[in-house]
Amino acid sequence: MKKFIDQLRDYDVCFETFLIPSMNGQKHMQTILLRESFKYFSEENIGIKHASPTNILDVSCGRGDYSASWTCSIAKYVSGGINYFCTDIPEGFCKDSGECYIEATKRKIKAVAHILKLCDDPVGVECDLYSGVDVIIPFPKQADIVHWSHSGYHVRDALGPKKNNLKAIEQGLQIAIAKIWSALDEEGLMFSIHQSNDTSDNVPAQMATLARPFTGILDNVPWYIEKNVHSHGGWVTTVHFGAPVKFPIMKNNKWQLLKNPKAWEFLDQDQQHTLRLLNFIAHDFTDENKAGLEKLAESGKLGEFIDIFKNAVQQNSDYIICKCAFQMACKSKIMADKLDTIGRDLRQRMPEFIKEMAETMMSAKKEHSEAVTSLKLTNFHT
Ligand SMILES: C[S@@+](CC[C@H](N)C(=O)[O-])C[C@H]1O[C@@H](n2cnc3c(N)ncnc32)[C@H](O)[C@@H]1O
Repeated sequence: MKKFIDQLRDYDVCFETFLIPSMNGQKHMQTILLRESFKYFSEENIGIKHASPTNILDVSCGRGDYSASWTCSIAKYVSGGINYFCTDIPEGFCKDSGECYIEATKRKIKAVAHILKLCDDPVGVECDLYSGVDVIIPFPKQADIVHWSHSGYHVRDALGPKKNNLKAIEQGLQIAIAKIWSALDEEGLMFSIHQSNDTSDNVPAQMATLARPFTGILDNVPWYIEKNVHSHGGWVTTVHFGAPVKFPIMKNNKWQLLKNPKAWEFLDQDQQHTLRLLNFIAHDFTDENKAGLEKLAESGKLGEFIDIFKNAVQQNSDYIICKCAFQMACKSKIMADKLDTIGRDLRQRMPEFIKEMAETMMSAKKEHSEAVTSLKLTNFHT
């Protein structure tokens, strides 16, 4: 069995803990908002093509599980079928299977081709989004829909000593948005979903915002995106949402032990789960031989970091809020007016979406415990 410290040093392992469907509402809410937006687009005849395939470009697609799930949830509104394109960094690969992210994503998209009405083989482009001049969709293709989710924070990764330099960060994001903008068709739509520090809807911003003073993680990528889209002459409509990230319920003495790296190999399951979550929150891709929490321990900030999150979890009685901005951007004013109306509707319907998110988390929990029970029974009988 892998030593616990090796789990912490493995980004995929910690990301997987963060993504557990019964304990994280973020991906459920993203999928709900995408599905509902596509319903409107289909009715309003924007973004989606009905007589020919719609080109979808998934930027920083990752391992492909979420790509397969969100595209399946919108497929029924894209009557002309889909051509799927994706892009991620060459260094991105799945440590368990050894596949690079692009290949893993293409394979997972092909496996659901019948649901997507996939018209052609998926195509992937490996490149760094935040530097250089590579195109992110093969010329002369243009994207009708761009989907860009939870990647903007990584602009800091390659900046070395400049990773907290606001000018360098801004330049990296400018490059990314310029690449996306030139890949986007004149009648196309860009979705961006990133953590935000906005509290205009009175929902607190916790995950990235609490971590920012310790790790420098950006909690304002949506602000940069809006500014850059405007500089290209485009428009943005934003819908904010908060989603819970649940933590195991633990007493203070169990939290206290997390502050001592020497105790990490001897922790119980709840404590290890909590550390993997905190480590995902503290992660950055610089010096990958060390876990984010190890870096915090070295700089003497680990104890304070753990206390800040413990207090938030205990105040909310077992979760923190991951605050996100769901942004829809376009190039034409006519489309922008339609997006504003859709955005208003989505905001008004948020209580309905929160209920669906909570129900999806509950049913994932039930499925999980049924799977565990049947595993136990199978073991019992063999
Ligand atoms: C948190 S994951 C998000 C994956 C997926 N989009 C999602 O929402 O689940 C961040 C993604 O950004 C990608 N990424 C990191 N640095 C990048 C870069 N310089 N250029 C392009 N993608 C990058 C990572 O490889 C990873 O797939």
